[in-house]
Amino acid sequence: MPSRIMLNPGDIATLDLTDPRTHAEYDLSEVWRHLRTTQPFHWHPSVGGAPGFWVVSRHADVSEIYRDNKRFTSEKGNVLTTLLMGGDSAAGMMAAVTDGPRHSDLRKILLKAFSPRALEGVVDNIRQSTRALVAEAIARGECDFAADVAADIPLTAICDLMGVPEADRAKVLELTATALGNDGAAQSPAAAWQARNDILAYFGTLAAERRANPGDDAISVLATGTLEGKPLTMDEIVVNCYSLIIGGDETSRMSMTGGVLALIEHPDQWQALKSGQADIATAVDEILRWTTPALHFGRTALEDIPVGTQGQVIKAGDIVTLWNDSANMDEDVFEAPERFRLDRTPNKHLSFGYGPHFCLGAYLGRAEIAAMLSALRDLVASVELRGDTRRNYSNLLSGVTSLPVTLRAE
Ligand code: HEM
Repeated sequence: MPSRIMLNPGDIATLDLTDPRTHAEYDLSEVWRHLRTTQPFHWHPSVGGAPGFWVVSRHADVSEIYRDNKRFTSEKGNVLTTLLMGGDSAAGMMAAVTDGPRHSDLRKILLKAFSPRALEGVVDNIRQSTRALVAEAIARGECDFAADVAADIPLTAICDLMGVPEADRAKVLELTATALGNDGAAQSPAAAWQARNDILAYFGTLAAERRANPGDDAISVLATGTLEGKPLTMDEIVVNCYSLIIGGDETSRMSMTGGVLALIEHPDQWQALKSGQADIATAVDEILRWTTPALHFGRTALEDIPVGTQGQVIKAGDIVTLWNDSANMDEDVFEAPERFRLDRTPNKHLSFGYGPHFCLGAYLGRAEIAAMLSALRDLVASVELRGDTRRNYSNLLSGVTSLPVTLRAE
């Protein structure tokens, strides 16, 4: 991976945060530093006829808006793509794009599937399969950590969470790869659309079965839950099942793979992990801060809101984007934020968001990174980069999609 080109504050006038290349090919840290200091609420001009939007870069402001679901809504979309298109078809059905009492009800239902007790078996499985995958990678010598180790861990965990029968796993993994376009092959939009529909139909079949004969998996809790006093519709069930894949697959893969790259680039921190000096739970949060897999989330203002010290007003209807990658580097909150330190504490990163929509999969995501760190610490003596890495092209998900390495055993 050629290193990213550093943009300067002078480039802000032409900055296009909607363009995936801006994030994959350029280093925005100087731009973010400048915006945090001088324009914490920056108006991003319209691109290609879509509306302009606010860019919020300071940790304090980003957390404040995440927390405020009275004056800001997620129901008109919560990421740039849907916000700029004018809405999300799953609004009012999928937790991430629903607010008010329906959202509280949906979260209550989903939280049953995410309770530490419900997750016990899922997390055990994550630990075992991660160790097995790392051991296989060592045996092979060379591997692409992204494809050969990190790829299947999150999806397997999500299948466990939903109680997808073993016999159907291969099909679900394949359809997901096609729907999300993450198997490396160039996907036709028609094939991706068909695969997404096939997954939704499959979840619908499982939901009908579980409604009649429930277990304690996520599909069963959705199939037997009630929303404002009524059972969930099939659409509501399947769209929330699918949201677990959208929310939990690529984000976790990016943090695991990015974590390994960070350890390669910071040999002192690799030593801290190996020597047992680094506490795994603390290290996991630093990897989450450092990799910040979800670059931004967004909201729409419901009323006029004066902001900052420059007399600016966010108008009702304005799109407001919250940049986690800037907030996680805010020097007002993190001491020497540009240093990757596995012992960083406190570490109030916003990688899982904040407030009412705080990530439901945070415990699971942390468990996946922890399993990876433990397996590396226990089984791997050294990690060496073997070739070019590849970055993801997206204005939402940031990270490394290919990481060729050699893992050597103890
Ligand atoms: C919400 C990040 C893993 C499911 C969120 C949000 C963020 C986030 C920033 C807030 C969105 C907003 O405020 O609009 C991440 C990262 C992960 C991760 C960085 C991994 C490192 C997971 C996993 C699952 C999951 C493993 C499930 C299997 C969800 C769901 C929501 C959510 C359902 C919506 C919650 C709500 O709106 O109430 N995630 N996530 N995430 N995440 Fe995650």
